[in-house]
Amino acid sequence: MAGTELFGYEERKEVLDVLETGILFRYNHDSQRNGVWKAKTFEQEFSDYLGAKHSHFCASGTAADSLSLACCGIGYGDEVIVPPYTFIAPIEAVLMAGAIPVFAEIDETLCLSPEGIEKAITSRTKAVLLIQVFGSMGRMDEILSVCKKHNLILIEDAAPALGGSYKGKMLGNFGQMSAFSFDFYKIITAGEGGAVATNDDELYEKAHKYSDHGHDHIGNARGAEQHPILGYNFRGSELGAAVVLAQLRKLPYMIEKQRLHQKALKKVLLEFPEIRFRFVPDEDGDSATFLSFFLPDSEKAVKVFDQFQKEGVSASYWYRNNFHFHRQWGHLKEMKSIYNLPVMKMNNIPDYRNMEVPHSDAIMQKLMMTQIMVTWSEEELNILTEKIRSALKNALK
Ligand SMILES: Cc1ncc(COP(=O)(O)O)c(C=O)c1O
Repeated sequence: MAGTELFGYEERKEVLDVLETGILFRYNHDSQRNGVWKAKTFEQEFSDYLGAKHSHFCASGTAADSLSLACCGIGYGDEVIVPPYTFIAPIEAVLMAGAIPVFAEIDETLCLSPEGIEKAITSRTKAVLLIQVFGSMGRMDEILSVCKKHNLILIEDAAPALGGSYKGKMLGNFGQMSAFSFDFYKIITAGEGGAVATNDDELYEKAHKYSDHGHDHIGNARGAEQHPILGYNFRGSELGAAVVLAQLRKLPYMIEKQRLHQKALKKVLLEFPEIRFRFVPDEDGDSATFLSFFLPDSEKAVKVFDQFQKEGVSASYWYRNNFHFHRQWGHLKEMKSIYNLPVMKMNNIPDYRNMEVPHSDAIMQKLMMTQIMVTWSEEELNILTEKIRSALKNALK
């Protein structure tokens, strides 16, 4: 991923700034920190990048999901509509909130479909947790209008699509609150870390307080602060903020390079008329961190995947491998929790064991994904495109 590829002097410098002050905590200790406030600086620059009014740096993307749910008032017994294609973190966050994940169908954007959302709505539905999956977006206009029509809160988890946009507006700027991750496998990384963003002053006030045990962060004497609400610890450290700040400043370059490289791969795939690209509602807004495409059927997809393996082309066939599709979530289906989750004590919860999302299954059976690197040289890109061409020729003959 771009962040790990481009890790260098700039990250080290930001971290050293913090280490020199010795203040690794993001709040207080004003006189000792020599004006070094990495979390605050990151939040200012991240909000500017997104075009959002506020953002708040926190411990992880999972923390950002939990924080978004909490700030939006989602708790015991509320239903939250979620997709079956995502890393499972947002679904775990819904469970931890005491809420009920309700699975809905995706479409060829690979994100929740507006039709799927509408079908999954019940009288208990409170929110839609839209994951902007692997670089690009859902059908935003229609999703927003379904949420509006049914008075649902929209939370956007844009962790896998940071840097993407829809009609000129950055992803992570559409719902009431959005979540991002800076773990090791994200476009920008601090090893661990996350953030929420919002345009709502009240939600922001809740976010910084809730993620720090309800501290109001007024004044500069931590012990004297008030605690208007109960909270939790989702704080990120100054060290993580320092790293992700340096990474954020490289993000426009990463996106530019990724788009160029994605274009080169797309050009090869276009030589094969049986291949179709994932539907991207605004192609100019694809962050191009990945390239997702469809083979005509599952048999051909498996063949292509096997040929890619043979040629050494890195690719994911999520339907069968890896961990991002519901078929691999045995622990969720069997509710293997080490303690009693609220959902385990509720009536009328969805039958997770026999989860039925046939439309999503059909889409995923045909889906292949490759990752785009930023540091590919022209020569490496040429070798890769040649390998892809050869693998596809073999698999599709
Ligand atoms: C969509 C999504 N949300 C949340 C997370 C969780 O992020 P973290 O690992 O920082 O907790 C991930 C991680 O892969 C993710 O893909």
